[in-house]
Amino acid sequence: MGSLTFEKDFEPSAVTPRGLAPPALIPNGDFGEMKRLKVASTPTTPRKNLNLLVSEPGKNDGPSLDCILMNYIDTLTQRINYHIVSKAAMMYRMDFEMINSSINGEMDYSDLKAKLLQNKGKPAIINVTIGTTFKGAVDDLDIILQTLEDCGYTHDQFYIHCDAALNGLIIPFIKNMISFKKPIGSVTISGHKFLGCPMPCGIQITRKSYINNLSRRVEYIASVDATISGSRNGLAPIFLWYSLSAKGHIGFQKDVKRCLDNAKYLKDRLQQAGISVMLNELSIIVVLERPRDHEFVRRWQLSCVRDMAHVIVMPGITRETLDSFINDLLQQRKKWYQDGRISPPCVANDIGAQNCTCSYHKIDFIIP
Ligand SMILES: Cc1ncc(COP(=O)(O)O)c(C=O)c1O
Repeated sequence: MGSLTFEKDFEPSAVTPRGLAPPALIPNGDFGEMKRLKVASTPTTPRKNLNLLVSEPGKNDGPSLDCILMNYIDTLTQRINYHIVSKAAMMYRMDFEMINSSINGEMDYSDLKAKLLQNKGKPAIINVTIGTTFKGAVDDLDIILQTLEDCGYTHDQFYIHCDAALNGLIIPFIKNMISFKKPIGSVTISGHKFLGCPMPCGIQITRKSYINNLSRRVEYIASVDATISGSRNGLAPIFLWYSLSAKGHIGFQKDVKRCLDNAKYLKDRLQQAGISVMLNELSIIVVLERPRDHEFVRRWQLSCVRDMAHVIVMPGITRETLDSFINDLLQQRKKWYQDGRISPPCVANDIGAQNCTCSYHKIDFIIP
């Protein structure tokens, strides 16, 4: 869409709630840092937001939810996911625990266990990510449920939300892992990602009992309102319905297979060319070493974090597009690294030494 410049310009204001300090860089799983942010963002006077008087969390001046909200991010500097979930914790005055992630971006289950035990006695809300933003890692719901059980959590002491923003329409075709037969509370799927709706929208699936608690018949609108705020976009469900019914089950199944095959094709070709690359199981996101040239990154609209870039192999991406991307990258790479003065980046800490082809790890690989 060519919107990178626009997004960059607006990034700071978009992520900084009015009246709060600018967000600090939160290293993954660094709870001390989280606390620092909390303290730093606590103003001395209550914050005015429209006609509501809102005081910041962390003060003993009002009711709070006595539970913890647990989340993690898939890369050390990836702040998007952190912000979405930590904002919710702030709004509901909950304690927030950041869980470490493994190198492939998946939740670190031993850290989850440690944090659950540290917070024993407090009910936990756990955000399970079914496809992380940058690395496309899929958390193992069954291990998380087992961990909760091992830590003595009964079903009424936890709530699991499955964030399947991109992968919600991919996973069901490859692995039957998300099911309301398991003790989960909700699943969300973005409408503007794999479904391809032209405006931001999404689907939330939850249990009828939770909806019934919230629903009220409103005479004025001659309907049942089950939302928090009231109004909602009536056009979005039509786009969602159109997209779902136009493609149908078989159409999505074909899309999923093609995307997975194409992602594997991209990963294999980059690997054969000696480029650092990683592809998670069940994922259509190929993570590779960051291309050296900013112009190349702009041309292909790549999203980058530190020394990594990623390619999301969506249904509209053809083999031809992938081939021209690969050919362009290989040609440019020759120019960037031809005189040997500069080497490709080492991404062992980001995607694992086994996936890194920097001069150090490549040698390691050849000489066991
Ligand atoms: C894991 C994850 N959760 C949530 C979101 C946000 O979803 P939405 O755009 O539907 O608000 C994203 C967006 O990239 C995401 O990757």
